[in-house]
Amino acid sequence: MKRPEPLIAPSILSADFTRLGEQIDEAVDGGADWIHCDVMDGHFVPNISFGPMVVEAARTRNDAFLDVHLMINNPEQYIVQFAKAGSDQISVHCEATPHIHRALQMINQTGCKAGVAINPGTPIFELEPILHMVDLVIVMSVNPGFGGQKFIKQSYQRIEQLARLRNSGGHPFLIEVDGGVTLENARSIIAAGADVLVAGSSIYRTDSIADTISKMRKNAQSALRPVV
Ligand code: DX5
Ligand code: ZN
Repeated sequence: MKRPEPLIAPSILSADFTRLGEQIDEAVDGGADWIHCDVMDGHFVPNISFGPMVVEAARTRNDAFLDVHLMINNPEQYIVQFAKAGSDQISVHCEATPHIHRALQMINQTGCKAGVAINPGTPIFELEPILHMVDLVIVMSVNPGFGGQKFIKQSYQRIEQLARLRNSGGHPFLIEVDGGVTLENARSIIAAGADVLVAGSSIYRTDSIADTISKMRKNAQSALRPVV
């Protein structure tokens, strides 16, 4: 089956928050396909980032696709607020609620695309009962909570396992990889079966956001088209 073109989704978690609007513009003007918004509550993960207000601010900035990643407990309580704030896609962690099926139903009812995220310690097969409900699966390649961490190498097998489940089930969801993505590992991550690369520090902590996005895209595409 033809693979879709790889997508690059800069995470604003690593942006300069003293000028967040400009940093979002720089990523969008620099070729970003999605803007990844990492929402953290200080309970599900040991860090607090931001809430619906920042998504709303990003929404007013431009018409970029807002890929919202809820690293929060009991996400059902906030799905409608993040949808109203202007999210295009809302992903919740399968570990963050006993009712992941209902949480995904709630996202689908808002009209947003629905995603499920999975931590490095959770078996991929746990997703099987809900893979038919999602547009996206986020494979966490770090333990969530902070940008700038090292890519966990076991993630490659997990991406391959998920890609096999997608193909055998005929599911249309995209596979997103989040955490420790760099120019150096982008190609191998796409080769393992991923479609979307989330990158925070490796994009925002460089001299040129546009240049890094373009290089990451080239490296990602080379996994689908061997360089002749
Ligand atoms: C959870 C966050 C981070 C972030 C990516 O921790 O989801 O993974 O998006 O940060 P980098 O690209 O700096 O690892
Ligand atoms: Zn994320």
